[in-house]
Amino acid sequence: MRIENIEQNNNVIELEKQKEYMQKMKVHLSNLEKKTGRKQTYFLLTTGCQMNAHDSEKLAGMLETMGFAESPSEQKADFVLYNTCCIRENAEDKIYGRLGRLKYYKKQNPNMKIAICGCMTQQDVVIEKLQKSYKYVDIVFGTFNLYKLPELLYESLETKDTLFDIWKEEKEIVENLPTVYKNTFQASVNIMYGCDNFCAYCIVPYVRGRERSRKPQEIIQEIQKLVNNGVKEVMLLGQNVNSYGKNLQTPVSFAQLLTQINEIEGLERIRFMTSHPKDLSDELILAMKECDKVCNYIHLPIQSGSNRILKWMNRHYTKEHYLELVQKLKQSIKDITISTDIIVGFPGETEEDFQQTLDVVRQVQYCTAFTFIYSKRSGTPAATMENQIPEDVVKDRFDRLLKVLNPIVAQVHQKQVGKTVNVLVEEVSKQDAATLTGRAEDNTLVHFKGTKDLIGSIIPIKIIDNKTFYVIGERA
Ligand code: SAH
Ligand code: SF4
Ligand code: F3S
Repeated sequence: MRIENIEQNNNVIELEKQKEYMQKMKVHLSNLEKKTGRKQTYFLLTTGCQMNAHDSEKLAGMLETMGFAESPSEQKADFVLYNTCCIRENAEDKIYGRLGRLKYYKKQNPNMKIAICGCMTQQDVVIEKLQKSYKYVDIVFGTFNLYKLPELLYESLETKDTLFDIWKEEKEIVENLPTVYKNTFQASVNIMYGCDNFCAYCIVPYVRGRERSRKPQEIIQEIQKLVNNGVKEVMLLGQNVNSYGKNLQTPVSFAQLLTQINEIEGLERIRFMTSHPKDLSDELILAMKECDKVCNYIHLPIQSGSNRILKWMNRHYTKEHYLELVQKLKQSIKDITISTDIIVGFPGETEEDFQQTLDVVRQVQYCTAFTFIYSKRSGTPAATMENQIPEDVVKDRFDRLLKVLNPIVAQVHQKQVGKTVNVLVEEVSKQDAATLTGRAEDNTLVHFKGTKDLIGSIIPIKIIDNKTFYVIGERA
């Protein structure tokens, strides 16, 4: 109990400290505004997963509290912040490419401040590279101290050198940071941070630290507040939500958390990601079935269909166990759709291993699959494994995977034609101003004709056509 109190105090003290820095920055920015006759602006780039995107909502929240306005142009922004990802090598390469361009923009606009944060900066090799070749970057911080942005920005006003503030491990969870949500009817909510699974290919445990769960009451309070402000759908985020709550002082299971969230009046939909198959319990399947607000959709990454490869990946389940879970989910939850992540070309993967992956794809009938070419991440066990697979072999398997997968995705969507589903309308289609897009409960992406006043409402739509990755509907 005492430990909890100390933890809470630290959180509150940190938040109060950052609020003071936000205030100081506000005064500074308003002076600049008087001098220049325009508001100071920020450009925030997010390159990572939903967790990163949610971090960016907090970064934007702090920046806007300080008085920055969002800039549509990176080139003209006064403050450029990159919130980075390092899950695969090409994610990092893109950041270095963009940083190179920023050097040129900064020459044109010497008052521009540049900062970089997120998963990429948690790696020593990246810090060394930034120190050596990217001296024009003003601030570098990491995933554990994101809430320190106001303090770091204020400090950097006085210094010419790059300010590095990278922590090696997590400290307290700072709650209640100001947040700018992408819209008023949907919100992401972190239920836990970090990961303890150490899948052999994955960098996340090294850059996001050990698993820690937020207390249920903090999560419920946050969701309640969101619902009071009009939110209808929440996405609960964690690297492995199925192990939620195990390390809390009073342990709570993810299924119990879902049941509690389901009670929140006014909330209409609950989604979550990601579920690790090794921790998917019968209790959770039952909770998904019984909680009316929990959507009939699950993202259940398989990674590989080969037991040999799964073992080397350190995933702790077999193909058979995975298929058994899929069976249970399909039997228990009406019309459930299932999506997945697949890695092709993990070290040692043979044609036979790859065929096992194709077999799972055929058996499960995924509604979507995120497919990745294995990328070597230094510091992970897989990086030093023998038998790294040649690029042309991997590319060939990757293409063949899509050839099997895409007709299955189309088939799953074809089965929905003729049904009427409830769609939460999200936005106007980027291709056509007269078309709206939204998601059915089972996560199917639906396009239909309508006007933008419908955005944010849940309406019945009849599905009339299938376009492989989405379906066409009309108002029912
Ligand atoms: N915590 C989630 C995954 C987060 S990363 C889970 O366990 O499912 C998202 C996806 O990126 C992973 O599921 C995996 O398919 C992919 N990925 C992770 N590391 C990778 C690597 N080194 N190369 C290629 N894909 C990778
Ligand atoms: Fe990475 Fe595995 Fe953790 Fe997912 S569960 S974040 S794949 S180590
Ligand atoms: Fe997410 Fe990329 Fe970090 S996937 S957790 S932003 S490495």
